[in-house]
Amino acid sequence: MLEGIDHVALAVSDLDESLAHLNEVWGLDEATRERVEEQGVEEAMLALGDCCLQLVAPAGKDSRLMRYIERRGEGIHHIAFRVEDLEATLKHLKDKGVELIDDSPRPGGGGSLIAFVHPRSQNGVLIELIQRPR
Ligand code: CO
Repeated sequence: MLEGIDHVALAVSDLDESLAHLNEVWGLDEATRERVEEQGVEEAMLALGDCCLQLVAPAGKDSRLMRYIERRGEGIHHIAFRVEDLEATLKHLKDKGVELIDDSPRPGGGGSLIAFVHPRSQNGVLIELIQRPR
């Protein structure tokens, strides 16, 4: 069911600053960058071995992520598990009584489908499930 860790996401307040830092210190190059209006975030995905590092930054003052960062500070935001069949995975989780934020798949970056599992159901860690296009 799980194919691996797709990415680890960090919540950052300034995307340009973080990208410059990651490049200067770790030599990481920006792979893709996009603004996801419906989530009020701007995100960047950086290749890191078999996995990726994702940066999510608030896009605008009324972004929910802005309130999150104000409350909890920057840091690890979520871990994304890559799955083969998101629909089937969500059904499996519902059968197991796992609390979901998204009951059904929604569009993510790069043509992917994503859904979030509530942190209450996973030791306080926000889990994203992602199905990559084949
Ligand atoms: Co993510």
